[in-house]
Amino acid sequence: MTARITVVGSLNMDLVVRTPRIPRPGETIIGGDFHTLPGGKGANQAVAAARLGARVSMVGRVGRDTFANPLLDNLTAAGVDHTFVTQDPEAATGVALIEVDDAGQNSIVVASGANMRVSPADVEAAEATIASADVLLLQLESPLETVTRAAQVARAHGVRVILNPAPARPLPAALLSLVDVLIPNENETALLTGMPVESRDQIEAAATALRELGVGTVILTLGDRGALLTQEGETEHFPAFDVTPVDTTAAGDAFVGGFAVALAEGKSLAEAVRWGNGAGALAATRLGAQPSLPTRQALETLLATGTTVVSP
Ligand code: RIB
Repeated sequence: MTARITVVGSLNMDLVVRTPRIPRPGETIIGGDFHTLPGGKGANQAVAAARLGARVSMVGRVGRDTFANPLLDNLTAAGVDHTFVTQDPEAATGVALIEVDDAGQNSIVVASGANMRVSPADVEAAEATIASADVLLLQLESPLETVTRAAQVARAHGVRVILNPAPARPLPAALLSLVDVLIPNENETALLTGMPVESRDQIEAAATALRELGVGTVILTLGDRGALLTQEGETEHFPAFDVTPVDTTAAGDAFVGGFAVALAEGKSLAEAVRWGNGAGALAATRLGAQPSLPTRQALETLLATGTTVVSP
């Protein structure tokens, strides 16, 4: 069964430089080569799901500048329908300034531009597309009122809502109560709950606190420590796949895309978390956001054998 997924979210051009380490405030460091690569959490999740075999539509905005068409062309190449990605005449295409250090960790600053002009009306124009999906994917690089409207439209049509609350910001209970599956990382969990997330006990307590805010299922992504699934009466830890990280940019987006495809295909929550873990691990083995997102073949090989193959 082909999964149908709609994404309401951001598209950014990522301006990436490798650096031996992330500079301190006021410090200048000579880095490596400069790369211009397609990104944005929304588009990354859309491409992740499409590479894994889903039929994907995206709702969003770019500008009318030099970065717009390469981002749209990249969606086309991945098979993502972008009928509802409009070109805003008054705003710039989103840009992300990304430093990646020798350990594969990154630091990112986003200039949102047109992404922050995606409106509730844009979402309503795409209502039929949202309604026809198995799953709606949302992040927080779009206005909160737009994210909330999208969740309302999905819920009205019985479509499951997955929210990746990244980048972190406080969220109203009215939005959280519309979410079926929340997928935060540790930093986002700490910000959303105001609770520490160092030890396993603290992480479980914070995940439970998130569920008490009205979310059905919480999946906390823990980087190289895997993921924790919490739902009614059940908490389960899933270890990460063992890979050597090159760049962790979009590993979280790959997790969300992989998880969503598996869920939409009718797999169990536990199997969907394994898909997320596998897709995230593979994305960390290559530089860049969208160029690093794995094919279904690469993911299935990892899931079956625990080993990685090079994906195009
Ligand atoms: O999650 C990674 C993404 O965050 C990057 O592609 C960048 O564009 C920012 O949105």
